[in-house]
Amino acid sequence: MSQDPINRGTCPVTHLTTAFGAPVVDNQNSLTAGPRGPLLMQDVWLLEKLANLNREVIPERRMHAKGSGAFGTFTVTNDISQYTRADLFSEVGKQTEMFARFTTVAGERGAADAERDIRGFALKFYTQEGNWDMVGNNTPVFFLRDPRKFPDLNKAVKRDPRTNMRSATNNWDFWTLLPEALHQVTIVMSDRGIPKSYRHMHGFGSHTYSFYNAAGERFWVKFHFKTQQGIENLTDDEAAKVVAGDRESNQRDLYEAIERGEFPKWKMFIQVMPEKDAETYPVHPFDLTKVWYKSDYPLIEVGEFELNRNSENFFLDVEQSAFAPSNLVPGIGVSPDKMLQSRLFAYSDAQRYRLGVNHHQIPVNAPRCPAFSNHRDGQGRVDANYGSLPHYQPNSFGQWVDQPDFREPPLQIDGNADFWNFREDDDDYFTQPRKLFQLMSPAQQQALFDNTAGAMGDAPDFIKQRHIDNCTRCDPAYGAGVAKALGMTVKSPDQLPAQPELAD
Ligand code: HEM
Repeated sequence: MSQDPINRGTCPVTHLTTAFGAPVVDNQNSLTAGPRGPLLMQDVWLLEKLANLNREVIPERRMHAKGSGAFGTFTVTNDISQYTRADLFSEVGKQTEMFARFTTVAGERGAADAERDIRGFALKFYTQEGNWDMVGNNTPVFFLRDPRKFPDLNKAVKRDPRTNMRSATNNWDFWTLLPEALHQVTIVMSDRGIPKSYRHMHGFGSHTYSFYNAAGERFWVKFHFKTQQGIENLTDDEAAKVVAGDRESNQRDLYEAIERGEFPKWKMFIQVMPEKDAETYPVHPFDLTKVWYKSDYPLIEVGEFELNRNSENFFLDVEQSAFAPSNLVPGIGVSPDKMLQSRLFAYSDAQRYRLGVNHHQIPVNAPRCPAFSNHRDGQGRVDANYGSLPHYQPNSFGQWVDQPDFREPPLQIDGNADFWNFREDDDDYFTQPRKLFQLMSPAQQQALFDNTAGAMGDAPDFIKQRHIDNCTRCDPAYGAGVAKALGMTVKSPDQLPAQPELAD
């Protein structure tokens, strides 16, 4: 554990006042009637202190509650203007101010950092055409591909309603009934499941997004951010020791590295798919449980970001930061990925609840370019509220004029409205986790088996068996390894029904 690195010796002397600026004469002794008498209601400073205390805690993020953040700079190193008109990528050498927040997902705000879990990887680029938020994870895929299931994922991995404890039964019952989760589960249970620190992991946009260029051509795109510190991970045993000694290991690592002037860096790459390829590419291009093979769509370098400044106040910037996949800028768009579509609603909605309707005015969230939304009023409005400008549109005074030059190229969409089941479109759950499994060394495969057995803990045997069966369908050696680590039996692939057990 290191020394408190904050130098408070240089602060000028301050004199205590109430929130409204009146001097506080005594902050140590309450106002009472006589030395042994009761409090007086007129001790307004005591009332203000108590009332403020009651309101200090804001709702935590429902997921990704525990996190660390820092400011930084993004620099373009390669010209990608043939794919996107986005101003931040417009010329090599261009720099854009940014803010990043890294997180664990399932733990609450006070949870330990070194836990086996995916990590959030959220970036906010303050571009001259608005804020672009790239709200990703440290894994290229996700557990689900239909957002109807996301609230249930959250319930399954968080606390049980009766015991108020995390439950291996709930967690693995849910995951194993969704065979499309096996790809992500394999990553989380692998030797990469506990990054040593936020500095030592890659980041991914995971979804398919879109780019469109100045000529109005659309491309599908995936974002990759490669750590320049190298990948480093903890084993379960190492992580247990870290947690025993330090619950804030990732916060401490990031904060102290930046204070030392060791600025962590990530290189940004994209995979680019021409719009038409989506119709023929054998991998469903809008399926969040799948990657695009780099042999088909190689990584193209874009730039690099470094994190070079800690916030002066954690609550102000890190806790109150608000990232939303709906924060897009001209040249960057979404895709038909159903998960991404639902995220376009979920984040700002959560933030209106968590931070208030004017959360875009909190300094860390405010754009660095002029913003004229004409949203007015609301709780906590702290700017000039657009003064006396007309507050309706259309108007005869040239205010709040549309900007059609920034229109996205039209996207052709067809099909009947229905509750389409993804499984009828694509039931290949195992090809990609199989390739991942087969890329692992024997030692990595053994770590995967052991980590899985450890994480399944006291889940009942029928759930363990369902997972073993899914692993066997993926690769018989995967099923055999997990079965052995769990002390259970493995069926041969021809003893298994062709389709995995499904709940829907
Ligand atoms: C945080 C919803 C999937 C990455 C959040 C928050 C919500 C949410 C409500 C809290 C926002 C806040 O209070 O500020 C959803 C829904 C999803 C989904 C409904 C799918 C249907 C994903 C996926 C990724 C992701 C696929 C990554 C590829 C993150 C990150 C944060 C977050 C990094 C934390 C952002 C921060 O640091 O403030 N999510 N999420 N989420 N989500 Fe998701």
